[in-house]
Amino acid sequence: MTHFCGRKDILDLIRKRVGDLKEGCRQNLAFIGSSYIGKSTILLKFLNDLDDNAVVPLYLDLEGRDIHYFVSRATRSILYQYARIKGLPLQESLPLLAQTVRPFIPCTAAAAVEASALVEKGRFAEAYQAALCLPDMLIRESGVTCVFILDEFHRLEDLGVPEPFKLLADSITTQKKCLFIITSSYEELAKKILSEKLMLLFGNFEIVNVQPFDLKASQYFIEQRMADVRMGLSLRNFLADFTGGRPLYLDILLHELLNLSAIYKQQEVYAPLVVQAVENLVFSRWGALSRHFELVVDRICSGRANRLVMDILFALANGTHKTKEIMDVLAAKQGPVTQKLGYLIEQDIVEKNGTYFYIKDKLFRYWVKYVFQRRIKAVDMEPGRQIKEFKDEVTRAVNDFQLTARKDLSTRVTELVRCFENEILSLHGHLYRLPVFTDVKPLKIRNRCGNYFDVLQAETEEGPWLLVLRKDPLAEGDINAIAEEARKLGIRPRRCVIVSLSALDEGAKLKALEERMWIWNEPELNSLMSLYDKPYIVS
Ligand SMILES: Nc1ncnc2c1ncn2[C@@H]1O[C@H](COP(=O)(O)OP(=O)(O)O)[C@@H](O)[C@H]1O
Ligand SMILES: [Mg+2]
Repeated sequence: MTHFCGRKDILDLIRKRVGDLKEGCRQNLAFIGSSYIGKSTILLKFLNDLDDNAVVPLYLDLEGRDIHYFVSRATRSILYQYARIKGLPLQESLPLLAQTVRPFIPCTAAAAVEASALVEKGRFAEAYQAALCLPDMLIRESGVTCVFILDEFHRLEDLGVPEPFKLLADSITTQKKCLFIITSSYEELAKKILSEKLMLLFGNFEIVNVQPFDLKASQYFIEQRMADVRMGLSLRNFLADFTGGRPLYLDILLHELLNLSAIYKQQEVYAPLVVQAVENLVFSRWGALSRHFELVVDRICSGRANRLVMDILFALANGTHKTKEIMDVLAAKQGPVTQKLGYLIEQDIVEKNGTYFYIKDKLFRYWVKYVFQRRIKAVDMEPGRQIKEFKDEVTRAVNDFQLTARKDLSTRVTELVRCFENEILSLHGHLYRLPVFTDVKPLKIRNRCGNYFDVLQAETEEGPWLLVLRKDPLAEGDINAIAEEARKLGIRPRRCVIVSLSALDEGAKLKALEERMWIWNEPELNSLMSLYDKPYIVS
């Protein structure tokens, strides 16, 4: 794997769980995250780096596969991997593999051949069960430990065997010495299967949400990939923001930028080259990302009944986020809108946060808004004009991003909080009700030592809020001073929010909680920026 990047925390977790397993303690893992977020890549990296003669890995990718694949792959992989760690000759065919390992693990070899024979006879359920039991047999017979990976495990449903999850549950319960790692790109479905069909096992799985890269990881990714070709910090930040940190998009965009810079013999990437790359990939009909998004739309919007799905997508991309508003914009009834929103959530396209619905994938949202919608709605099909409009739009986005990045925190937060409209949103596990602010003005308050704090005083119908803005760390004493000064201002704020780009230390955090203040650090702030469709804050 040439370009693997980041994901150290997750790789460390897998390695730790494998270590624990060897000590006799098993904690299975479930990786849940959108398609193309990098789940399989992490697992393949783990397998690639695994260098332990006491661990036999078994990796099955279930995307679009049938029972023949499942059994053929399971039987051959397990014997192959065993042969590999024992330094035996490696083969691809099952009979040859079985012959090689038979002197060492006769029962496992026989069981693998038997499972394969069952498939040939069309006895799928028995074959499935036999394949699931192979790790256990190997562990008993040879004393190795096993890691059994089922990538996109929800697809077991498509194997055409009855009750696939019940059989899986049984085999997870009995095979205590085998670590199970499962993944799924469909959060709702996966959690449903885990809680209903693998009911007893819910607690048995540690659920890990695989997220896009954060800003730092995206930066690192870009640096690694661009190697000798330079690109200014603000363009790198733009790309991180534009792709929402999705490694697939970063990968494809950087590849294009490298190509273009080679074609034009440029040692440094400037904005026009980025605009060109975005046009080639996101606008052109045969651009990789455009094709990719078109397939997504085909999947979710095809069929007569799904016209409303497309309209809802447009509404969401255009910045309408609440059921009622979507109903108004589309002149549609609540029933169908709610139903289609539910469908889009199931399909992992839309996420719901409190009362707020939004398209999860930032670049997809951009494509729907500026490419797909225009293509569907435009009357003027003159391609030259459409390209020009799109190019202007991307250029504007790059410029806006650079302008916005130069704005100070106070301006950014003011622009953000002016968008609030009584939403109830959940940010990193906390619920917040965000009122409508009628007026937001900057203030400075000064503590006893003479230090100033930048503050926003924001008016609501129920009284003013104070938002304290801070780039550097805050200490417990600062929180005391803020509380004290707020009282002195004589406005008795209804709510005080600490907006701090650096994490607070424990003392300051406790003090703030005691004073019933809210704390928004960089992750909360950038989640809000993203929800309200604004560029990230780059600190
Ligand atoms: N950590 C990473 N480093 C480099 N590229 C990555 C990384 N994670 C994902 N990618 C890119 O994104 C693509 C899709 O990732 P993949 O692992 O297939 O997603 P998933 O399994 O979650 O659907 C990969 O083919 C690769 O190009
Ligand atoms: Mg995958």
